[in-house]
Amino acid sequence: MTVWLYILSGLVAICTVILYAGLLPFEGIAYHMLWCSRFCHNDHTSTAQPTKDPNSSWDQLYHLGGNSPWIPKTSGIISSNVSAPENCRVDQVHMLSRHAERYPTVKAGLRMLNLYHRIAKHDHSLNGSLSFANEWNFLTQDPARHYENLVSTGPYAGTLEAFATGVKLRTRYIDLLEAALARGKVSFWASGSDRVEETARYFGAGFFGLDWERHARLQVIPETSDLGADTLTPGDTCLDYANDVNDFGHAYGARMLSEFRGTYIPAIASRLAEENPSLTFSEDEVYAMQEICGFETLAKGSSPWCDVFTHDEWESFEYARDVLHYYRAGPGNPYGATIGWLYLNATANLLRSGPEAGELFLSFVHDGDITPFLTALSLLPQTPHLPSTQPLRNRTWRTSDVVPMGGRVLLERLACPAPVACWDNAPFYPNHVYCEPPRDELSVRVNVNDGIVAIPGCEGGAGGSCPLEEFLERVERRGREVGDFGEQVGDFAAVCGLGEDAPDGITFLHQ
Ligand SMILES: *[C@@H]1O[C@H](CO)[C@@H](O)[C@H](O)[C@H]1NC(C)=O
Ligand SMILES: *[C@@H]1O[C@H](CO)[C@@H](O)[C@H](O)[C@H]1NC(C)=O
Ligand SMILES: *[C@@H]1O[C@H](CO)[C@@H](O)[C@H](O)[C@H]1NC(C)=O
Ligand SMILES: *[C@@H]1O[C@H](CO)[C@@H](O)[C@H](O)[C@H]1NC(C)=O
Ligand SMILES: *[C@@H]1O[C@H](CO)[C@@H](O)[C@H](O)[C@H]1NC(C)=O
Repeated sequence: MTVWLYILSGLVAICTVILYAGLLPFEGIAYHMLWCSRFCHNDHTSTAQPTKDPNSSWDQLYHLGGNSPWIPKTSGIISSNVSAPENCRVDQVHMLSRHAERYPTVKAGLRMLNLYHRIAKHDHSLNGSLSFANEWNFLTQDPARHYENLVSTGPYAGTLEAFATGVKLRTRYIDLLEAALARGKVSFWASGSDRVEETARYFGAGFFGLDWERHARLQVIPETSDLGADTLTPGDTCLDYANDVNDFGHAYGARMLSEFRGTYIPAIASRLAEENPSLTFSEDEVYAMQEICGFETLAKGSSPWCDVFTHDEWESFEYARDVLHYYRAGPGNPYGATIGWLYLNATANLLRSGPEAGELFLSFVHDGDITPFLTALSLLPQTPHLPSTQPLRNRTWRTSDVVPMGGRVLLERLACPAPVACWDNAPFYPNHVYCEPPRDELSVRVNVNDGIVAIPGCEGGAGGSCPLEEFLERVERRGREVGDFGEQVGDFAAVCGLGEDAPDGITFLHQ
């Protein structure tokens, strides 16, 4: 029954997109592409930024709450030097990556098309800060084909980003890659969604080479709801959460977002209405304008919509997106930690085993699978809960530079030689020195979008990393914690309302 409703609503959505697409003007879009090297991501003098205010340190991409191209993490980091600390080596790497740059999803994209269409049909031209919209063309000429999928043109093409990330990580981990290949084909993983699989394949070409299928095995894990705990996308298989059986399911985030929107959007709507008295915009429409800034930037390199709003209004939008993630699958959602703990626990077991279990564990998913992972790890602990009444300026929960398109979290196992204690039997045999055998101190370092982030409360290892034993205890302790439903965080089946026979853990994550 629900499956049919789902399919039906999908068909309606697709038909609506096709209908709207037919209404788009035919003249070609002037693509004023501003090209820059893929490595200009690390160079903030880049020309491909939407806002060009040479005097200001304002960077629009850092205020889009995940609707931006990949950006390096710059806030809340302990270092931007991604090299292993002096004398240490990385002997195992785990990655959880969002798919690369994409067009809007159907749902968000329809909001944008509705807005576009309403402006185009209005019989007065727009004035003031919106006057550009009289000549504005929609961000894609082919929404039916583009929505949901990777961007494949322009400076922020997801295809290019995924490939370049493959090359970047190949450069960083070439020794680990060679060690892994010496033992045979390397498995890597993608959840079963076109844009996620495509990201993994472009990445694979950059990381393993064009003939990557000879060296690597891409395992696609379906996003179906029946996989229980044996999944990469637990938000789909945690049935009580996915089906919104209570107020705290998947829809909780959208509800809190909507509450917060009500606090800042009406003032923007009135400001715009002063310039354009004959066309007033709804909350949904103003929010769509702010979303278009990010998605038009992704599609074309820049967007005039970014300049319509003040920095303050952008900070409200950024906060709105943080609230969405916080209550959808983050620390504000009672299911968040449980959903994220599955992959964390599987990863912890591999970190304990070390490189004998494999050197490389690279997985591609969605933003809604990464925020729970961070929640389970308590990487960005947030007190108090984010209010939906006004922005909490001092919050640690900021998503713009954590889950942009292509956003990734890497856990590196570090091996660093421990100081070796030596002694002699002076004064009798001063020349006979005894030493402990050399050994490594093991730790786990977290890299979020090329910024090194400390795990709060576990920073005693080399370069602010977390000693492995403490890390493993932390993960176990988290799993035993009793959550808001009176069940242990690690008991996926009990928290999610699954039957006894549901798979109870991740089985595919091994080399
Ligand atoms: C830019 O900054 C300089 C130095 O602080 C200042 O003199 C100048 O007026 C600023 N220009 C603008 C347009 O704000
Ligand atoms: C980064 O760290 C490595 C290892 O400690 C060091 O050799 C290198 O000089 C550092 N690079 C920069 C730019 O500080
Ligand atoms: C723009 O200004 C003109 C002249 O004041 C007015 O007639 C028109 O309705 C305005 N446009 C909108 C969309 O309100
Ligand atoms: C942030 O502000 C809130 C409310 O103003 C306060 O309760 C909280 O302790 C502050 N957090 C930090 C880390 O300063
Ligand atoms: C978590 O890891 C432990 C081993 O440390 C394992 O026994 C257990 O099955 C795992 N649980 C899940 C849900 O993956």
